[in-house]
Amino acid sequence: MIVRKKVLLVAGGVVVVGLVAGFLAFPATDVPPCLEQVQRGFRPIATDRAHRFLGKVQPFTGECRGPERVQQARATPWVDWSNYWATGDGASKAGLSIIPRFGRNGRGIDGALLDLEYQRIELVRFNLFDNYTYEEYLNGRGPQRGASLTTWAAMRLPPEHPNYGDVGGAGAQACRGELIRHRTLTGICNDVYNPLMGSSGTLFARNVQFEQTFPDLELDPLARARHGGRIGLLRPDPQVISRVLFSRAQSDPARCNQGQGLPGATPNANCDYQPAPFFNVLAAFWIQFMTHDWFSHLQEGTNHAEQTAMGCALAGQDANARPLSPQEIAVLGCRPDDRIDRTLIADDVPAPSFRGADGASHFTRSPKTTHNHVTAWWDASQIYGYDETSVRRVKRDPADPAKLLLSRRGRAQEEQFGYLPVLAAADPMNPQWQGQEAVAFPDNWSVGMSFYHNLFVREHNVFVNEFRKQAERTPDADSGLRNPALPDRVITYREVTPEELYQAARLVVAAEIAKIHTTEWTTQLLYDEVLYRGMNANWHGLFRDQASLKRITSRVADRLSQSTSEEDRNLWYTVFASGSGIFGLGSHKQERRGPFGLLAGEDTWSLARLEDVNGGVNHFGSPFNFPEEFVTVYRLHPLVPDLIELRDYRRPNVIRQKLPVIETARAKATNALSDVGLANWALSMGRQRLGLLALQNHPLFLQNLPMPRLGSPTNLVDVAALDILRDRERGVPRFNEFRRQYGLRQLTSFDDFIDRRASVSPETRRQQQRLVASLRQVYGQHVCDASRVITAAQLDAAGDPINDCLGHPDGSLVDNIEDVDVVVGWLAEATRPHGFAISETQFTVFILNASRRLFSDRFFTSSFRPEFYTQFGVDWVNNNGPEKVMERGKPNGHREDVSPLKRVLLRAMPELAGELEHVVNAFDPWARDRGEYYSVDWKPRADARSDPAFGLRR
Ligand code: HEM
Repeated sequence: MIVRKKVLLVAGGVVVVGLVAGFLAFPATDVPPCLEQVQRGFRPIATDRAHRFLGKVQPFTGECRGPERVQQARATPWVDWSNYWATGDGASKAGLSIIPRFGRNGRGIDGALLDLEYQRIELVRFNLFDNYTYEEYLNGRGPQRGASLTTWAAMRLPPEHPNYGDVGGAGAQACRGELIRHRTLTGICNDVYNPLMGSSGTLFARNVQFEQTFPDLELDPLARARHGGRIGLLRPDPQVISRVLFSRAQSDPARCNQGQGLPGATPNANCDYQPAPFFNVLAAFWIQFMTHDWFSHLQEGTNHAEQTAMGCALAGQDANARPLSPQEIAVLGCRPDDRIDRTLIADDVPAPSFRGADGASHFTRSPKTTHNHVTAWWDASQIYGYDETSVRRVKRDPADPAKLLLSRRGRAQEEQFGYLPVLAAADPMNPQWQGQEAVAFPDNWSVGMSFYHNLFVREHNVFVNEFRKQAERTPDADSGLRNPALPDRVITYREVTPEELYQAARLVVAAEIAKIHTTEWTTQLLYDEVLYRGMNANWHGLFRDQASLKRITSRVADRLSQSTSEEDRNLWYTVFASGSGIFGLGSHKQERRGPFGLLAGEDTWSLARLEDVNGGVNHFGSPFNFPEEFVTVYRLHPLVPDLIELRDYRRPNVIRQKLPVIETARAKATNALSDVGLANWALSMGRQRLGLLALQNHPLFLQNLPMPRLGSPTNLVDVAALDILRDRERGVPRFNEFRRQYGLRQLTSFDDFIDRRASVSPETRRQQQRLVASLRQVYGQHVCDASRVITAAQLDAAGDPINDCLGHPDGSLVDNIEDVDVVVGWLAEATRPHGFAISETQFTVFILNASRRLFSDRFFTSSFRPEFYTQFGVDWVNNNGPEKVMERGKPNGHREDVSPLKRVLLRAMPELAGELEHVVNAFDPWARDRGEYYSVDWKPRADARSDPAFGLRR
């Protein structure tokens, strides 16, 4: 590709000049390794999965990018970049440099970003396994390589679909007219040429080789060799895992009362939990709110009609497993009589095989598949609906159908806005939802879900109000909106119908949510400079403030997307998309100008051309849906504390009550929210730290969750045990193979979970050693057999196949590290990059899928246009509201807009203005002093010194 070569030439020139200049700023010891790095050039992208990058760089690269600790960590399984200069807090920085970009800090951060880009490229190349289209992906279609396919027969609407005729029936299918104007109820026609993609009821995809899913079925010889017959649906026992490895220890069990707190919700109650100092409870419920938009295995809150046991039966793992004694059961506190409805399975007839172009035999799909019952798009479907049933719960305001209905109750009498109405008797509902607010996705409801649904319904209505004000000011001006049936006809503000405004508001709210998640939630979840830049690059581009570079990279990405080469259209594409940002890709079509044809000309994007409407999406050869493995890494139940510290925004430093979360479950959330008031809930959840994602930190109330709908002997469920069971029912590979499949280095014993970094205190290390002993107790050990090869996903350091002994001597006793469930494994990962609330394994799953759900969605790429959003809507998303507002100062060294969630909170609850004045990121505990450069210290800001949260033991 000529353009690419030219761009690379220019980029190469800039790098060389920069390096020469940079040497002036180099400490002498850095020169040899950095020089070697330049001489050796970029590492080639792996062409087969066994030779992936693994997040491990060459010694000279490590020396160029970081201090001695990079070398010390080379032998560990964990990625290298987290040890580079400036990737942690202030202590990781190397002082000032004359030319920051080429000084140590610049090299550290850029090097880390480069490592992450390598990971993303490899993930795109090796980790896409779609249950509908895999055979074509691997073998191609005629002369076309599979990874460059853009349409698939399986993504057509079937003849029985009500819109079959509208999209072209048996002929070539393409969505037009009303079907492309806005987000459709079921998510069809997001991709106009693949109408079915991402719609409700389509199959979850996978990120791992189908043969390695469902390892307990032992369909594949490698899986058989890996687990040696030791694992099963109930082996090791899920409730034993829950009670030994997940339970929160209590210093004073009576004051916690199994998560039920004390009568009257008195503040004397206390449930110990390990909190994360830099992330608040708002962030915990935020992510649950997101998952309800993205995926659901359950249909209307239920699973299969048949029930299954949940463990609390077996001690031990292999042939020596024996029944638990009554005494052991009593000590563990588990329940043998718990039952749960089996997961829904879409297809479990044996998967057909085919011969791949590589000569090997492959499954066409996973041995069992499951449906995603909501739309996979980031379309706020938890609010607006995802099928004909869910939408009947969504109430429009009869006084203004552009709005959603809010009613006056509780605190609403003294507030500007109302609260969501309660489900009416005629609404479709699972009986356990009775008394809850009427929303599209009402399952697993608590005050957290109630809070966010109310908040964003308020935001929807605020947008409608402000749009109407604009319409009053300029009734005859062009709203920007267009009807695809009459693409050239201007629609003035006055002409926008309530339905059109409702749909535009939905687009805006969904985009705001995606922006909050990408640039605010994730940058606090992964609180360091590397991920601040990385996540902002996904949205705004690395060249956010350099308009011409942003335009050039966007243009290059656009041209790469039209290439037929897999390298260009997938791998290089993601590189250049980082420069321009994924959001808005393809939303402008500039005529080429200038010597390289890369400068901006007139925007010729047209609603009349479907190829423009759809032109910014890229599915990398595999239709978009979330993979089963994505659901697994969102099993974030430890985030939830047992008790919420309730405050009043007029006296924010006082904890008035400790209200058990379980006392806000299901229908109890409704009054809890409106009686206490949205602002008081915002403040309470904003100030409280959420639970660290770690072993022995699950909420007690979730281990004892009442579930009367089951009619089981106990009517209780241990949700922590259920997390394990569900992953097994859905065939998620166990932890070590999961890591290998994602291109991460394997562990060779439980001891690898111990954090070896010098900064770890002896007490913390002792605690980790105790956890390792518990892992050994639950998962056990076996005598290894070096003749058994256990994986094809990687080779060992010597380039040999990995065997059952994982580098230990043949015949020695080794840990059953291969059997560890994924959730257990990622919770046990103590070695994490600075400021990471999640583990590196979880993060790797996000690198791929968080990017893909932007890359694949036309409303975040080529259809982010006034023709769909209105001009007012486009500006609202870009400015975080009706006008742009800048944050004071330079938090962590960056000039920033006032964050999108902070703006949403202020619009819905203007009474929080005083409290939010000092808040930069709404997910950082509101009263925390953020200190300097990504500090994670738990210190109060000046006006919150009397807040008891800062004096608490934990
Ligand atoms: C009050 C708080 C919560 C309650 C009562 C709750 C309850 C549950 C229950 C009962 C299930 C199992 C459903 C089944 O498989 O039958 C579940 C699944 C799940 N929960 Fe939670 N949960 C809560 C908070 C959270 C949070 C904060 C997250 C964070 C993301 C989360 C993420 C998930 C995920 C990813 C699943 C699997 C969903 C699926 O299979 O499609 N939950 N939860």
